[in-house]
Amino acid sequence: MADVRVCPLSELPPGTVRVFEAAPYLPIGVFNAGGELFAIEDRCSHDDGPLCEGDWDTDDCVVVCPRHGANFDIRTGRALTLPAYIPVDTYPVKIVAGDVVVEIP
Ligand code: FES
Repeated sequence: MADVRVCPLSELPPGTVRVFEAAPYLPIGVFNAGGELFAIEDRCSHDDGPLCEGDWDTDDCVVVCPRHGANFDIRTGRALTLPAYIPVDTYPVKIVAGDVVVEIP
């Protein structure tokens, strides 16, 4: 497992998302939903759309894929609506010395 530093927590305030490349071909989005941090794969399970660029709701923690509109729960990665039905990967997030860090298995 590897810890990947994303950014200082101060650069990811509530209501924002930060997309980064954790490794080649492994884009991940980190969401700050009211102070809780969640990280999911930035690749829609339907057709590889840039999932974390979609609109999202901080209260119900749902992101909408900008390509065909599938909804995903950013807490679990679960696909909530068609056309997606396969979940996306999720990753643990922690704060280390004031930085947002994602754990990559
Ligand atoms: S690529 Fe996301 S819903 Fe089709």
